[in-house]
Amino acid sequence: MRKKIVAGNWKMNKDFQDAEDLMFEIVDELTENGSGDTEVIVCPPAVYLEMSSDIAAENGFMVGAQNLSQWESGAYTGEISASMLHSMGISHCILGHSERRTYFGETDKVIATKVDLTLKYGMTPIYCCGEVLAERQSEKHFDVVRTQVSEALFHLGKEAVSQVIIAYEPVWAIGTGVTASSAQAQEMHAFIRSLLTEKYGEEVSAEISILYGGSCNAKNAAELFANPDVDGGLIGGAALKAADFVAIVNSFS
Ligand code: PGA
Repeated sequence: MRKKIVAGNWKMNKDFQDAEDLMFEIVDELTENGSGDTEVIVCPPAVYLEMSSDIAAENGFMVGAQNLSQWESGAYTGEISASMLHSMGISHCILGHSERRTYFGETDKVIATKVDLTLKYGMTPIYCCGEVLAERQSEKHFDVVRTQVSEALFHLGKEAVSQVIIAYEPVWAIGTGVTASSAQAQEMHAFIRSLLTEKYGEEVSAEISILYGGSCNAKNAAELFANPDVDGGLIGGAALKAADFVAIVNSFS
């Protein structure tokens, strides 16, 4: 059985004290409401990873990074490597987020390198893919997602790809308040799973969790998560409020 997963992407928000408060609020909400059999991952800004992973480790949930370097080590001022994150107990890393693609020019090729380094250091990539509005309007969304998934992941063998979490995040839905409809999410998730089946076979594709991201919130999560191929969510804005985030964690039927 593939895992149900809810991951929170805090992006570049919160100063230290607010970040620590939010971590403790999440702990309180999880203690009060539980998390069923959902895996919970919080991805704060890199400077708060140490504080966050200490709190998470004591409270049964996990912490992921939002990015890592495409280089393994050396003279890359300002970069943070996969081995550094791994050595601090970080279990996951978001890769290929549309904001990294748009503002930092990350290509599928660069992201594929980051996927490899994440796996090399025993962490789980949360690989994001998704089309922009114009691509959906011109009915290119399936082609776009096929290219993103195949170029960043399909060099992996069966065992390696089984470690990956995929997040479908239509760019037009990220931070806009416009969520993909439940049918649109299911349709694309089923398509991604069909690509995985074609390449790796049914046994592997059935085990890979595919999360939905893009204005997913405490109100719409249950409907999205009720779909057979939607295995959870990658949550931005709503992950900054502990009660909303934990309500989403508990939105599986
Ligand atoms: P959002 O962001 O939930 O604020 O739309 C999702 C994401 O970017 O991962």
